Amino acid sequence: MTEVGGSSSVGAIVGGAIVTDGNVTDAIVTGGAVSGGAVFGGIVVHGDKRGRQLGFPTANVSVAEGFEIPADGVYACWVSFPPETARHGATVSIGDNPTFDDVTDRRIEAFVHDLNADLYGRSVLVTIAARLRSMVRCDTLDELILRTKEDVERSRALLAGAVA
Ligand SMILES: Cc1cc2nc3c(=O)[nH]c(=O)nc-3n(C[C@H](O)[C@H](O)[C@H](O)COP(=O)(O)O)c2cc1C
Repeated sequence: MTEVGGSSSVGAIVGGAIVTDGNVTDAIVTGGAVSGGAVFGGIVVHGDKRGRQLGFPTANVSVAEGFEIPADGVYACWVSFPPETARHGATVSIGDNPTFDDVTDRRIEAFVHDLNADLYGRSVLVTIAARLRSMVRCDTLDELILRTKEDVERSRALLAGAVA
């Protein structure tokens, strides 16, 4: 299980944002660069629910104002759900999911490793550890599933090596 608790999960506080959403009590999200990685935060919102069918259910992040969204691509990340401090490994996809013509907006989706929880409405803080690849259009669902599986394996390996 890729989970590391404790204050070291957040690193130096270099920025902050108040994340608010109708259903959610205001939460102060403070994040800092951990090994120089970009940090952004927001609220978990509903996606199209296709991820579960693909075998990789994702938490879709509505990024809060004031954060810059990193370039489209797939990333190995740490995520936490303030006010909880535990950090979880995740593989995050950013882009308009070019495999699916009906997706026209840019989405930030986190497949959180080893966490089976209803995260909808929770505040989330994402720290990028490494960029894995660019977003691609897959010809078949099997190809997308295979690529995602490889991403998650690489992400897990990278994050396991990154734990101090
Ligand atoms: C690790 C990972 C990599 C992904 N890579 C791609 C990709 O290269 N191309 C693409 O069209 N979608 C990619 N996706 C996004 C999936 O298409 C998306 O998660 C799926 O359609 C479920 O979306 P939903 O949560 O809105 O239902 C990726 C998702 C994950 C978690």
